[in-house]
Amino acid sequence: MSEFNADWLQLREAADERARASPLNPALAEWNADDASHPEPRLIEILDLGAGTGANLRYLAPRLGRGQRWRCIDQNPQLLAQLTGRSADWAHRHGYQVDLDTRGLRSTGAALQLAGPDWDALAYIEQRDLATARHPENALRPEPRVHSRLLSLPAQGLITASALLDLVSADWLASLVERCRRADCALFFALSYDGRAALRPSNPADQAIIALVNRHQRGDKGFGPALGPTAAAVAETLLAAAGYGYQGARTDWQIGADEPELQRALIAGWLEAARELAPPEARAKLRAWQRERQAQIEAGVLAIQVGHRDLLAFPPGSEKKRSPRRGVHPSRRPKRLAAQKLADQKPVAKD
Ligand SMILES: C[S@@+](CC[C@H](N)C(=O)[O-])C[C@H]1O[C@@H](n2cnc3c(N)ncnc32)[C@H](O)[C@@H]1O
Repeated sequence: MSEFNADWLQLREAADERARASPLNPALAEWNADDASHPEPRLIEILDLGAGTGANLRYLAPRLGRGQRWRCIDQNPQLLAQLTGRSADWAHRHGYQVDLDTRGLRSTGAALQLAGPDWDALAYIEQRDLATARHPENALRPEPRVHSRLLSLPAQGLITASALLDLVSADWLASLVERCRRADCALFFALSYDGRAALRPSNPADQAIIALVNRHQRGDKGFGPALGPTAAAVAETLLAAAGYGYQGARTDWQIGADEPELQRALIAGWLEAARELAPPEARAKLRAWQRERQAQIEAGVLAIQVGHRDLLAFPPGSEKKRSPRRGVHPSRRPKRLAAQKLADQKPVAKD
């Protein structure tokens, strides 16, 4: 099991947001746009895998448009506990509507509802270990890895994850892609680390340290041997084999001297990983590197670029099936009724 803390997720959220500005966002919004010939626009079901504190929900909801129902899934209850509060603060800052506690909302079982000028999103929170697909109540029962077998997928929905893919194994991802194909789901994997990292000013030890970090990334993070920097490339191969049409974009972090805290955390994380794998005779070199990098952060002269890749994929034949499929966009109804009416609609799941 890999541990992520809420402070780290908060630190990276701004860098993630800048990095994710890519042509894939309009392509996703276009895919989600309604078939103009149909009187009832569709409500899209979205699964956010490894949702953490909800950064992917906050990034995508205003960009996706229309009516959305999110299932935000993570194994870590401490992170999930912050999802509603952080999303509500974010909504207030951006002038979006937010509902955390009306009777209408409670009757849906959702944790919150957000709404902007041309979108609204109902978000459910679900604690679950995606590696074993066990429900928390079964957590003590030994069970072999069954990948995502027990996770129900929304038919013709969107399966998304940000900064998760490098943690999973090839088997797990193959199983997910295959199940998504059967359920006719689109996929959006954001911010998969791709093994590239560059620091300015450079240091002769940089590439050896990044090589250790990349080796460390391939260790088991709970899903079997992790894909690490190969994640996006492996995903592309699997998507192509499953008949998906896909587009990729570079979404690199550019972390300047104005984000010293993020730089410090990144360097500390890299060092921790490198130390675990470095031979004892390399320890002094690592310490010297750390001292130099820390001094550069304090002096405000360090710039870091970290390679990421986003992938957006549509199931085979999806251009032909753009007609609405289920549900009704809640923002086409009077606002006070939207959450209430959603309570009557059970999520459509297909295994
Ligand atoms: C790098 S964080 C990304 C979080 C969030 N998507 C974001 O972009 O801020 C990876 C997330 O995957 C979750 N995770 C890791 N292994 C998991 C597992 N086996 N089951 C469910 N969630 C998992 C972690 O708890 C963490 O929230």
